[in-house]
Amino acid sequence: METVRTIAELRQHVRAWRKNDESVGLVPTMGGLHAGHLSLVSHSKAHAKHTIATLFVNPSQFAPHEDFATYPRTEEADQRMLAEAGTDLLFAPNVSEIYPDGHSTRVNVQGLSQILEGEFRPDFFSGVATVVAKLLLQALPDVAVFGEKDYQQLCVIKTMARDLDIPVNIIGAETIREDDGLAMSSRNQYLTAEERKIAPVLYAAITQVAARVRKGESPASQRTWAEAKLTKAGFGAVDYVAVRDAQTLGPVRDASRPARVLAAAYLGRARLIDNVAV
Ligand code: PAJ
Repeated sequence: METVRTIAELRQHVRAWRKNDESVGLVPTMGGLHAGHLSLVSHSKAHAKHTIATLFVNPSQFAPHEDFATYPRTEEADQRMLAEAGTDLLFAPNVSEIYPDGHSTRVNVQGLSQILEGEFRPDFFSGVATVVAKLLLQALPDVAVFGEKDYQQLCVIKTMARDLDIPVNIIGAETIREDDGLAMSSRNQYLTAEERKIAPVLYAAITQVAARVRKGESPASQRTWAEAKLTKAGFGAVDYVAVRDAQTLGPVRDASRPARVLAAAYLGRARLIDNVAV
């Protein structure tokens, strides 16, 4: 697996594959890789002949008070894991390659970006949509794979690609979990040993919310119950626990449409997010 740092080199590889009519899959990441990321590589390999992974800790999706400086940077280990998983090419650009001086365009998916995560991280999704739009246009893959772990992000990216007519098939991949249910995340490294024991309560809580809604309880009344459960377990601030329409992420109006339980809460200095289908 070769690692390239420039858009020109990335395009050179893609052009050679295209010449032979070979398909291309893209797996964008910020590194600090775990089995969840590697599962996206497997999905890409099932859909395309060649898989490109990208590694870029995107400054435009971090607020000034967030963890850009301390985000796990483990490129050598990431390279090894991606190569073993059968990735063909790693694109790991520097910040100046993606945001050269004078870069002034931002992509903003209205509506979807302002709710749930967007309420607590106002510029987050425009940072994500901007960098993902750029990566898709740089590589022009046939498919790009994103995790359901970041369910709202997946919805934003699908909407962005559709609205901007980017010719790519966006694929969602199921969340990979630890044995106790905790969704794998690069940010789980921030948990102390004590917090790590408490962390699976988030998945347990949203799974129970999904079961309660399936039994006919009102979606709107679930937050209070789930928040009490999380607080009792040792969680700090609960940003949201919400049952939403799985497609629009708006309120559930029609019980026959698929719904999703989404949650975000602090545990020590880590902010954990998770979601499950109802
Ligand atoms: P990052 O957090 O590194 O995640 C990269 C991809 O891995 C995302 O699509 C995410 O949903 C997926 N992923 C993370 N944990 C997962 C798990 N436990 N199971 C399955 N998939 C998982 O998300 C980002 O980076 C960035 O916002 C990015 C899209 C790369 C744009 O900068």
